[in-house]
Parts: sequence; C-alpha cells; structure tokens
Amino acid sequence: MSALSGRIAVVTGASRGIGRAVADRLQQDGARVACLARSFEGAHDASHLEIPCDVTVPDDVRRALARAIEEFGVPDIVVNNAGAFLLKPLVETSAEEFLQQLTVNTCGPFLVVREVLPHLVRARRGHLITIGSVGDHQPYAGNAAYGASKYGVRGLHEVLVEELRKTGVRATLISPGPTDTRLWDPIEAQGSYDTPARSDMLAPSDVAAAVVYAITQPERVAVEWIRIMPAS
Ligand SMILES: NC(=O)c1ccc[n+]([C@@H]2O[C@H](COP(=O)([O-])OP(=O)(O)OC[C@H]3O[C@@H](n4cnc5c(N)ncnc54)[C@H](OP(=O)(O)O)[C@@H]3O)[C@@H](O)[C@H]2O)c1
Repeated sequence: MSALSGRIAVVTGASRGIGRAVADRLQQDGARVACLARSFEGAHDASHLEIPCDVTVPDDVRRALARAIEEFGVPDIVVNNAGAFLLKPLVETSAEEFLQQLTVNTCGPFLVVREVLPHLVRARRGHLITIGSVGDHQPYAGNAAYGASKYGVRGLHEVLVEELRKTGVRATLISPGPTDTRLWDPIEAQGSYDTPARSDMLAPSDVAAAVVYAITQPERVAVEWIRIMPAS
C-alpha cells in the first residue's frame, strides 16, 4: 500500500514547475490529485484531474474547488503553489506590477484557503501547504514586489497556524531557494541580475519531497516551516 493511498489532494499552479512535480509525486505515492492552473497547454496528463482556474478570481476558485470536491471528495492535502516572480528595482516597479505579485502570490492562497478550510475543519483533518520562498524571510535587492508578496503569504500562513490550533487541520510553509523551473527563463533573458546557474539550483522534485515529508508525519507533529536551499 502506498504512503498516500486513499488521500485526496488539490495543487494550484500544477501545469508545470514545482506544482507539477508536487502533483506527480503525490499521485505516485497513491493520492488522487486535482490540478489547478489557468491552462494545461502541453501538460495534459490523464492521470490527474485538470481544472482550469485563475487563483486570483474568487468565482474561479469557488468553482474549481467545488468541482474537485464533487469529483473526489473533501481534500486531505491542499498545496498553494501557483505564483509569479518579478525581479526589478523598486523605483522601476509599476503599481500594476506590484499589485499583480500581491494578487497572485498572497491573495490567491487566501482565496483558496478561505474556500476549502470550512470543509477541512468540519472533517477535523487536512493539511494546508503553502509554497513560499527563501524570499519570505530574507530580503533581496530587486524583490520589492515579490518579497512583499512572499512575506505577506508567510504572514497569512502564520496566522493560519494560530487559527488552526485544536482543529485537527495542520499547515506547513515550505520556503525553497532557487529551483530549476521556467520561472527563471525571463529573468535570465533580462540579464540584469546575477542569477545562480540552473545546475546549482534545487530540482522541483526536491520541493515535492519536502511536501511529502510534512504531510506524512504522525498526527502529533506539526511541521510549521521547512526551508530548503541548494547545498552548493
Ligand atoms: N523556481 C524557484 O526558484 C522558486 C523558488 C522559491 C519559491 N518558488 C515558488 O514556487 C511556486 C511555483 O513556482 P515555479 O518555479 O514552479 O514557477 P512556474 O514554473 O512559472 O510555474 C508557475 C505555476 O503557477 C501557475 N499560475 C501562475 N499564475 C496563476 C494564476 N493566476 N492562477 C492559477 N495558476 C497560476 C502557472 O500556470 P498557468 O500559467 O497556466 O496559470 C504554473 O503552473 C511559486 O509560488 C514560486 O514563487 C519558486
């Protein structure tokens, strides 16, 4: 019997990158996985349930989670991963760009949690995972908008940990360092920042392994925060 057999998972931003690796790993370990993203172009995999959803749109989030619950049941694992990355000096960041980072990276997870949490609390079980970033604790030049959004989602997670005490629902923030995904393509093309070599970065599967670690601990254990960094 696999470690997650019979479990139900929802993963946002699961069309590529870290979200895709998390969805694949949860599925390999026996879970049924509902994948949310705006589009699944080129990523179609019949073994996952793919639900189009823009996590910044409340009605989309409501509809997508209702569909996941209708198809599979109340999830045991909800991974808030969908995100966007902007690297720009503060004074060059437009108000629209700043708000876009907050909307996707901070408000998106808020909308998902707000929708799904009453179901988990009623069931007195479940695990909420937030994919933050090393930049949710550490400031970097060029991270005004992204850093604000990731510090924000850390704040959301920390409040959630307090609100979830004695509910049977657990929450984990996973803060990865640089991870080799397409998120880096435009940054490398832009060429204005020294970025780590792709070969020195974490693999998306490393982040997926951290998710599995957090959700497979005994019920008495709350893994509230995991930071993983490239070793080199
Ligand atoms: N790569 C890194 O170095 C790194 C390090 C630390 C933390 N992270 C965090 O890890 C998460 C995933 O990043 P990644 O590197 O895997 O990026 P990625 O390869 O660019 O993938 C981002 C995913 O999010 C989805 N997404 C973006 N906006 C969305 C929206 N409004 N609604 C629904 N889905 C949306 C994308 O799908 P669609 O475009 O089809 O919607 C895609 O599936 C992000 O939260 C990021 O901040 C990444």
